[in-house]
Amino acid sequence: HSSMAEEAKKLAGYAAVDNHVKDNHVVGVGSGSTIVFAVDRLAERVRQEKLNIVCVPTSFQARQLILKHGLVLSDLDRHPELDVAIDGADEVDAALTLIKGGGGCLTQEKIVAGCAKHFIVIADFRKASSTLGQQWKKGVPIEVIPMSYVPVSRTIAKLFGGEAVLRMAVNKAGPVVTDNSNFILDWKFENPQNWAVVNTTIKMIPGVVETGLFVGMAERVYFGMEDGTV
Ligand code: A5P
Repeated sequence: HSSMAEEAKKLAGYAAVDNHVKDNHVVGVGSGSTIVFAVDRLAERVRQEKLNIVCVPTSFQARQLILKHGLVLSDLDRHPELDVAIDGADEVDAALTLIKGGGGCLTQEKIVAGCAKHFIVIADFRKASSTLGQQWKKGVPIEVIPMSYVPVSRTIAKLFGGEAVLRMAVNKAGPVVTDNSNFILDWKFENPQNWAVVNTTIKMIPGVVETGLFVGMAERVYFGMEDGTV
């Protein structure tokens, strides 16, 4: 089953790159395991078609991926306007609202996506969700300034219910530290919510840097399916 998901990620990544990347584009490169396939395809096309492409990373991982493939690395200082940004997602609902940040990279991902004319999402079939947050029960990731994690967690629970838990590292004693030197709260909740309101309200809590809710940002989502279609 997991090899099927890997194949589905590849199909989605390839389709997005083939349909949305053109010569002379500035491309935002997302984070996670699905984007790896998209960058493989991007590098292949750059070589074969001699494309002139500039890449803006959304994380340390994306930067490494760009460098490993010998692609042209840039940043928002030099390229604040992107033609397209491509990224994965943890969950996608019917309105194309996303949960992102499973890998801890939500803030830079949202900044880069917000600078792109087109934000294209790539995912395998497991990421389609009828009700955000109910499928994996991993909750919504929220990046916070370290000293604020307790008050932010309490405020979120008071406002919307559920529980916002500090994400702990796996091979280290202590919390996950993001690429921006912050912490991540994973907010788990019972009831579906008005995501636009939740996103805006949580962002206004002092100490919150960004939420993993991407509302009204994704223009198109490519799902790789179990039967090999996209
Ligand atoms: C990184 O923090 C996330 O937002 C990823 O974009 C998201 O988790 C998708 O990752 P996968 O492609 O590994 O599912």
